[in-house]
Amino acid sequence: MTDRYAVIGNPVQHSLSPRIHAAFAAQTGQDTEYGMLLAPIGGFAEAVARFRADNGRGLNVTVPFKLDAFTLATALTERAQSAGAVNTLKFDGREALGDNTDGAGLVADTARLGISLAGKRILLMGAGGAARGVVLPLLDQNPALLAIANRTVQKAVALAEHWASRGAIRGGGYRDFAGERFDVVINATSASLHGAVPPLPDSALASATLAYDMVYADRATPFLAAAKSCGVPHLADGLGMLIAQAAESFYLWRGTRPETAPVIAMFRG
Ligand code: ATR
Repeated sequence: MTDRYAVIGNPVQHSLSPRIHAAFAAQTGQDTEYGMLLAPIGGFAEAVARFRADNGRGLNVTVPFKLDAFTLATALTERAQSAGAVNTLKFDGREALGDNTDGAGLVADTARLGISLAGKRILLMGAGGAARGVVLPLLDQNPALLAIANRTVQKAVALAEHWASRGAIRGGGYRDFAGERFDVVINATSASLHGAVPPLPDSALASATLAYDMVYADRATPFLAAAKSCGVPHLADGLGMLIAQAAESFYLWRGTRPETAPVIAMFRG
């Protein structure tokens, strides 16, 4: 029987995951099936149980179920624990391994862009779920500094304090980083979804080589437009990260790592 996978969410119709995973399966010659699962709010566990009973081997988990998946997992990877959320479940008998591949996806995508994060000064904007999902994988790249700026300052300070033992990390408000220069600036806020730009001081972008918006869109997000006008040479939206986190899920499930570049090109086309 063909192993079944799916993305589970509510809503879920907009998800690109089925097309991404179909491309991965074709590229690697894996015999898998990947669908979409719309679960009712409050009905996550039941929907997962039905899926598992019907040869379901793994799920990508999207809004609003990442915390439900965290609770449902019988074991968690360190990166899922650190993110406090699960975006990938792998089923093996009675076990349900919870993982979070977002941070690895971001790191892999910066590498695809030719940017190494080791020794760099990184500014991460935002301290919500999206930011929390990438902090540990970013620190694991040994940057010179991981600065976290957030509108609600205390959230950035708390996040930085939590990970202080794992690397050079500092949290604060946007103004706290005025006058400091960064190599890489990452937007993990939801501001782009509202057509807004976080109140980032211009100096932070002045010497940046990469501006990365974790949101993807057909047109440049307001943050990327601002970075472009500051002359930042490399601009990236979150499509590459989306495809790279999917590749990491595929690797967890199938033990083979698909190439992301041709799939990114397919979607851009
Ligand atoms: P997500 O899961 O997408 O991270 P979230 O947990 O609600 O969603 O977090 C949203 C993040 O975007 C927060 O860091 C938020 O800042 P606050 O903690 O101060 O609310 C940030 N954010 C949203 N809109 C913003 C804006 N217009 N300017 C700056 N930051 C914004």
